[in-house]
Amino acid sequence: MKIGILTGGGDCPGLNPAVRGFVIKSIEYGHTVYAIREGWRGLVKPIIDEAPLTLNDVDELIYRGGTALRSSRTNPYKDPAQLQAVKDNIKAHGFDAIGAFGGEDTLGVASKLYKDGFNTVGCPKTMDNDLSETDYTFGFDSAVGVNVDAIDRLRDTARSHMRVIVLEVMGRHAGWVALHSAIAGGADAVLLPEIPMNVDELCEQVQRAYDRKKYAIVVASEGVELPDTDESEATLDAFGHVNLSNRAVGETIAKIIEERTKLETRSAVTGHIQRGGAPTAFDRVLASRLGVRAAQCVHEGDFGKMVALRGTDIVTAPIEAAVGTLKVIPVELYEQVKTLFSK
Ligand code: F6P
Repeated sequence: MKIGILTGGGDCPGLNPAVRGFVIKSIEYGHTVYAIREGWRGLVKPIIDEAPLTLNDVDELIYRGGTALRSSRTNPYKDPAQLQAVKDNIKAHGFDAIGAFGGEDTLGVASKLYKDGFNTVGCPKTMDNDLSETDYTFGFDSAVGVNVDAIDRLRDTARSHMRVIVLEVMGRHAGWVALHSAIAGGADAVLLPEIPMNVDELCEQVQRAYDRKKYAIVVASEGVELPDTDESEATLDAFGHVNLSNRAVGETIAKIIEERTKLETRSAVTGHIQRGGAPTAFDRVLASRLGVRAAQCVHEGDFGKMVALRGTDIVTAPIEAAVGTLKVIPVELYEQVKTLFSK
């Protein structure tokens, strides 16, 4: 088979090991895999390698962050001409299948293409961990690790200067990154998009922690709803997602805390640092297993499927089911762990 492979959406640690697993397994089957560069844009323009990927091209990808295939947030379904170009280029290059490695948006395009008669297989990635049908996505563990390291460092300053520090983390409209970072970092309060912010409760939590140990750490998800904020001017990306990075969530919450409690408060943002660097061992293993399983799907003609982690097993699920609903934090989970933030 002649297979095209692409990575779309925000890069994250684990994409390279996943591509590596896919290519190694495909070569073992006797297939050829061609790199489509820059996500779906690579099929619009096209930007496709002339030679197939070799073992040497992918072998060292195991420890490299980002995506060697490059990425973009191109949505060909927004523009009929782009969509036609994608379909024409798949045919012109004689691709028997496309392996699409990405999050909700990239996989959404793969799902629609499958319905339009093209052979696609999806491999889920996102540091946000907000994809349904899979317990974890690679990129998430690495991002949380960066935040935990940041919290450990911020605690040193918070304790030394007797301050409150608010750390703003990514995650879009799901609080997974914030919640796991806050638990693993031992934060004193966490703010999640799923739980409406209660300023009185937040300030009480901060004050309580401060009274006890003379500092406090708060983790805030970039997606939390801010009180008294006009968001009508928010900018959208090609998939209609609100750009959350310029909402100054951490800074705003720090100001609120300082005003209310009169405690000296600072904020920090880990931002894109969360998406860079070498993948953790967990993400390398998860990504490698998913990549290999995705190659198996292609080989067996099991199209329209996404590979997924369920418990400790790698399984498959219809891509459509995975992109239909965002996986957010269940209330029961929050209820179970909130004691950690009300000490
Ligand atoms: O979806 C991954 C993510 O890192 C989100 O957590 C964040 O809101 C967004 O991408 C940032 O996108 P960009 O890299 O386009 O600024």
